[in-house]
Amino acid sequence: MKRADTKPQAIVLPPEVRPGQSVELLQELHILTRDGKLNQDSRRKLKQVYHLYQFIEPLLKEVQQDHPGVSLVDHGAGKSYLGFILYDLFFKGLDDGSHIYGIETREELVQKSTELARKLGFPGMSFLNLSVAESTRSNQLPERIDIVTALHACNTATDDAIDFALKKHAKFMVLVPCCQAEVASVLRKNKGKDLGKSALTEIWRHPLHTREFGSQVTNVLRCLQLEAHGYQVNVTELVGWEHSMKNELIIASYKNLPRKRPTERLQEVLATLGLEEMGERFYSEKLAEAETMSAAE
Ligand SMILES: C[S@@+](CC[C@H](N)C(=O)[O-])C[C@H]1O[C@@H](n2cnc3c(N)ncnc32)[C@H](O)[C@@H]1O
Repeated sequence: MKRADTKPQAIVLPPEVRPGQSVELLQELHILTRDGKLNQDSRRKLKQVYHLYQFIEPLLKEVQQDHPGVSLVDHGAGKSYLGFILYDLFFKGLDDGSHIYGIETREELVQKSTELARKLGFPGMSFLNLSVAESTRSNQLPERIDIVTALHACNTATDDAIDFALKKHAKFMVLVPCCQAEVASVLRKNKGKDLGKSALTEIWRHPLHTREFGSQVTNVLRCLQLEAHGYQVNVTELVGWEHSMKNELIIASYKNLPRKRPTERLQEVLATLGLEEMGERFYSEKLAEAETMSAAE
């Protein structure tokens, strides 16, 4: 009788796994099963992160051209899929002090990610149990950060991530906003006062429209705020995210661009929509300062 072959079978990896990528990491993130298979959900997650990587890799390289030791902060990191895959694909081979920080309010996720980074031997990764707003003032982070990412960070966490990036003089921001309810709630509150002022108030009269328009306006205000701080902004669609409604990708690159016009536009949009009270959230430099900076540019 023929004996059964007891030799362990080599795992045949799916083509989505790139050469040199850590199989252990992908298994720990439950993207790959123990026998090296991808299920439908994890194939989608991997596709999403690769798609984002396409945008982030050139930014990492641009920072490297400026100085060694890239610092990246990922806000609302969750299970840190993005951070871990970025580290595995780009940071792993670097020996120049490059570092990824994951900011997350859920302590159990911070603990899990810390443990996983230790297990995988990824010393250039840290996870901090802080809110985005707290991290802006935390001395556990360096004064300057090169790249800030925030992927579906809930509600106003994206705005806090923008504030963090502005204070840290980040060269790049890569933001995929989640729904933000704050602007819609102010539109809703002021509806009685503002409706009738102009036919354009019809755009947010119905409750569903208030929510959707609020969400749209939030991203418009974010873009203007970034431009008002000298950033060049690109807004695109995060394809590969076809199962998510929240697929707007905002990439901001600091270019020290003239600030006067976007600052004026930002104020004008806030005033036109009765959103003046959101001026602190979507702050810009004082118009006089923006004018001085534009004149000096
Ligand atoms: C929808 S998940 C996204 C996780 C991850 N970025 C991803 O795309 O897979 C949002 C995460 O942000 C965290 N979060 C929400 N508000 C936060 C805040 N203000 N500061 C830090 N983390 C926050 C939540 O605990 C959650 O883990």
